[in-house]
Amino acid sequence: MAHLPLLDPGEVSELDLTDAAVHAEYDLSALWRRLRTHAPLHRHRSVAGGPEFWVVTRHADAMAVFRDGQRFTSTSGNVLETLLVGSDSAAGKMLAVTDGNRHTEVRRVITGALTPAVLDRLADRIRTQIRGLVARAVERVDGDFGTDVAAQVPLTTICDMLAVPDSDRAYIHRLGSSSVSSHEPGHDTMDAWTSKNELLAYFLDLAEQRRADPGDDLVSVLATARVKGRPLGTDEIVFNCYSLILGGDETTRLAMTGAVLAMAENPDQWRAFQRGEVAIDSAVEEVLRWTTPSRHLGRLAIEPAEIAGGRIEAGDIVTVWLASANFDEREFAEPDAFRLDRSPNRHLTFAYGPHFCVGARLARIQLEATLTALRDLVGDIEVTGAPQRVYSNFIGGTFTLPVRLKAA
Ligand code: HEM
Repeated sequence: MAHLPLLDPGEVSELDLTDAAVHAEYDLSALWRRLRTHAPLHRHRSVAGGPEFWVVTRHADAMAVFRDGQRFTSTSGNVLETLLVGSDSAAGKMLAVTDGNRHTEVRRVITGALTPAVLDRLADRIRTQIRGLVARAVERVDGDFGTDVAAQVPLTTICDMLAVPDSDRAYIHRLGSSSVSSHEPGHDTMDAWTSKNELLAYFLDLAEQRRADPGDDLVSVLATARVKGRPLGTDEIVFNCYSLILGGDETTRLAMTGAVLAMAENPDQWRAFQRGEVAIDSAVEEVLRWTTPSRHLGRLAIEPAEIAGGRIEAGDIVTVWLASANFDEREFAEPDAFRLDRSPNRHLTFAYGPHFCVGARLARIQLEATLTALRDLVGDIEVTGAPQRVYSNFIGGTFTLPVRLKAA
């Protein structure tokens, strides 16, 4: 973050927040501050003939939008990409873009499967895997934390949850990366589309197998669940399996890699953490706030609403910028400082309200395991090259981090 050129807020009316390059190539902190201060409900211009949309940047207003499932729906999409075209093909089938009773019922099936016993079992594997990867990274002279460590973990965890057979995992990793990653400007959306469809077809087969021969994994839970006496639709099962990869892979990777970069850029915090002066839980929360992997979320207003003193009409698109809300000076003291002992820390990294991230606990376990392994095994962290940033308007951060980790 510190090394990117500051985007001069200049004429805010010229801004294009849909442009992935704006998020990848600039430090937007001054822009966000200006919007929070002078235009907390900003009307974004039309881009390429698309609809105008609202930009919400303050923490309190973000919470107001997230908690209000009555006035703001997710069923037309929950990010700009889908909202601007007016629909999401998974609406009503995938949790993140389903509302109302159906959302509550299917969400209960998924959260019900993530029992403390299941999470404990996953946590044991995560800790062992991360410790092994960090130990190997320490031995490497020139490694890359993003690819050597972070890229290996979340998808393995999701495959464990879904009990994807070992023989299929390399295939899922390949499809997972190409269907959600945006590692280059103008990355090939056709490739992403093909990979997404291959993944959906894969989960269709897996769901049918598990329906016939269920185990205790999440695919089996979805394939055999009954809501009001009826099984879930096949498309609901398939889209929700896919949504775990969509929601849980790249976001967690970005937080893990961002954690190491933040430690390297803030050596006083790293030393305090190493000396055990900071509780691991509060360090995890500050990493989540600091990295904010989901940059924005969106909703469609279905009733008029008042936000930040302005009026939103039914039919308007509302975008909520977590990248700004998590640095709102009205909520956080010294928001631009990375402070591992920050308390309170009511960041919105996992959103808030009915769609609050179902994988939050799992993401926290993965970050806790990462920070613990770093503290136990690593002495100095030296960044040896320029990290690469994701090109996207809805996820953000660094996906590579050339780094030398010296043994503790
Ligand atoms: C640091 C990592 C993560 C971040 C930053 C993150 C962020 C988010 C956010 C902001 C939402 C709310 C979406 C909305 O309101 O429209 C969400 C929802 C969701 N996340 Fe995560 N997530 C992370 C990890 C995970 C993991 C590990 C999983 C699963 C294994 C997961 C699965 C989901 C699902 C299924 C939803 C939809 C929940 C619903 O609509 O009820 N996420 N996530």
